[in-house]
Amino acid sequence: PRVAVVFGGRNSEHAVSILGAGSVLEVIDRSKYEVVPVGIARDGRWVLASGDQRYAIEGGELPSIDAGGAELALPSGGGSLVAYDAGSIPVELGQVDVVFPVMHGPFAEDGTIQGLLEMAGVRYVGSGVLASAVGMDKSYMKMVLAACGLPVGRYVTIRDRDWRTDRDRILKEVQELGWPVFVKPARAGSSQGISKAADPAELERAIEFAREHDPKVLVEAAITGREIECAVLQSPGDAPAEASVPGEVLVHGDHEFFDFEAKYIGEDMSLAVPADIPADVAEDLRAMAVRAFEALGCEGLSRVDFFYTSDGRLILNEINTMPGFTAMSVAPQLWAASGLPYGELVDRLIQLALE
Ligand code: DAL
Ligand code: MG
Repeated sequence: PRVAVVFGGRNSEHAVSILGAGSVLEVIDRSKYEVVPVGIARDGRWVLASGDQRYAIEGGELPSIDAGGAELALPSGGGSLVAYDAGSIPVELGQVDVVFPVMHGPFAEDGTIQGLLEMAGVRYVGSGVLASAVGMDKSYMKMVLAACGLPVGRYVTIRDRDWRTDRDRILKEVQELGWPVFVKPARAGSSQGISKAADPAELERAIEFAREHDPKVLVEAAITGREIECAVLQSPGDAPAEASVPGEVLVHGDHEFFDFEAKYIGEDMSLAVPADIPADVAEDLRAMAVRAFEALGCEGLSRVDFFYTSDGRLILNEINTMPGFTAMSVAPQLWAASGLPYGELVDRLIQLALE
């Protein structure tokens, strides 16, 4: 089969996506698949990735897709992609059997590219339109998870208009959460736009900061607890989805939370696998992770993030329908520790998409 690995994208997780794609391109079995690497530049243009594409952080510099070179027309139906070179001479890419969108965030993990591929009749790895859209928007995500009986933290959603017209009410609602709070863009990832606020003045600044990413903002009550994550994988056929062993994210150094810097740039994050938690808690957590996957109707792979509080409660923080996907990212590491090495995970995801 021909597999288009699509990466980059029009959002703040552009570089994170390229890092993941680099790992996928390294391990994908080329005796089994014909691989077509496709980059999406920050301005949204699709290009055939060139041989000199950089997939790694070098000298602290994040990789990015250069819009020069061949440009692709969007898939137009019948499962084929057409490539144009810089002189606009069409290069027929022909049938692509499956697209692996190794991308995160808006226009990537939010149902938009999934909808485009549905329209084009091209199969793809991962969740469909609805699950992706719900998973991307932290406010709808929590609504669906809570409606399915899963424990989520307390939060306040601030829509664009509310912020412009109703600040007093917002402040009152946020005050009821207690200080400090975490302020997040409703639809972003990799901790971009997130900050902590300990009083009303900081809250205002934090909301403006989050609004640089998304006019819709979430304010969450701070939860003191350990961060435990679990990956869920669809099974072939009708078998139920499986949960990995849980892992604990440990952040070292001077970070107020698990921020972008700790996640990707420095070496301030480590993962303890399996998480050192009681066996019954691990079982509850794994069952909840699968329920969350099913609540949204996810496909392929997701990573479900929890807090384990000092008084022994599990709170579901979020689900990511296209979790960080380098070989060293949390979900691949959790699967490797569960007996499914990265290369086999990539293969399984492609096979699930082809089913
Ligand atoms: N949004 C990042 C990639 C994650 O969830 O891992
Ligand atoms: Mg997320």
